[in-house]
Amino acid sequence: MIYIHNLWKCYGKNQVLKGLTLKIEKGETLVILGRSGVGKSVLLKHIVGIAKGDQGYIEVGGVRISDLDEEKRCKAMRNMGMLFQGAALFDSMNVGENTAFYLQQHGNLETGRKYSRAELADMVDHALEIVGLSGVQKKMPADLSGGMRKRAGLARLIVYRPEYILYDEPTTGLDPITAMQINELILKTQEELKATSVVVTHDLFSALFVADRLALHKEGKIAHIGKPDAFLQIEDPIIQFLKKMTEGTRSYRRKSP
Ligand SMILES: Nc1ncnc2c1ncn2[C@@H]1O[C@H](COP(=O)(O)OP(=O)(O)OP(=O)(O)O)[C@@H](O)[C@H]1O
Ligand SMILES: [Mg+2]
Repeated sequence: MIYIHNLWKCYGKNQVLKGLTLKIEKGETLVILGRSGVGKSVLLKHIVGIAKGDQGYIEVGGVRISDLDEEKRCKAMRNMGMLFQGAALFDSMNVGENTAFYLQQHGNLETGRKYSRAELADMVDHALEIVGLSGVQKKMPADLSGGMRKRAGLARLIVYRPEYILYDEPTTGLDPITAMQINELILKTQEELKATSVVVTHDLFSALFVADRLALHKEGKIAHIGKPDAFLQIEDPIIQFLKKMTEGTRSYRRKSP
């Protein structure tokens, strides 16, 4: 479980988070919606620990990670991965090296044992197979399409089987068919790893396709949260606008309510 309690964050005069509280249950996929600039990426950066709140705390799996020093926090956060917008691959490494990078650095997450080249190759092959990129190990990131970059970014995450996965705009900028493939992958990853996932998206098809619950980030807080059907009934101008846009798209729901 991820628990964010009364989180405040200010950048200069810009009070972005204003006492945000949110609980993400173990094994669920929570989708966070909200207008541009409201602080969704800032929230993910706090959860993953690359930004530090002014007030409040964050617990991951019962550990208050926001109170730990850097070294302990990194250790505690090994079971968390984030898919950044644009995938954030290392441009000087090919897809295989990118996928192996984290495992090579850290070895086995539980024991710290380093993997042999053959073991790494097997794990990389398996992860690339899951995301549908078998055989592209030698390609450089610059030679990949946007959808392939996202998939390579996802392979780099799932290769070490994190318990928690954060996705920042995983389908933005992709054509609808590629976006749907990424949605399928998010579900497949969640099923395979039994991961707890947080997905930030502007893409409503995507949101309804993958979500167990939906949340609206508004004015520095989580204004509303609920299961898809209940969420779409909430009397809030943003939600009602979203609902209008998604009318007729219920057939895209993959998750059972
Ligand atoms: N490191 C930083 N320094 C200063 N301001 C920042 C920093 N990071 C984010 N902000 C500000 O915080 C606000 C929220 O940014 P954030 O990127 O979280 O928005 P968002 O909800 O993810 O928007 P979008 O949907 O467009 O991605 C913005 O006003 C942004 O300029
Ligand atoms: Mg953002």
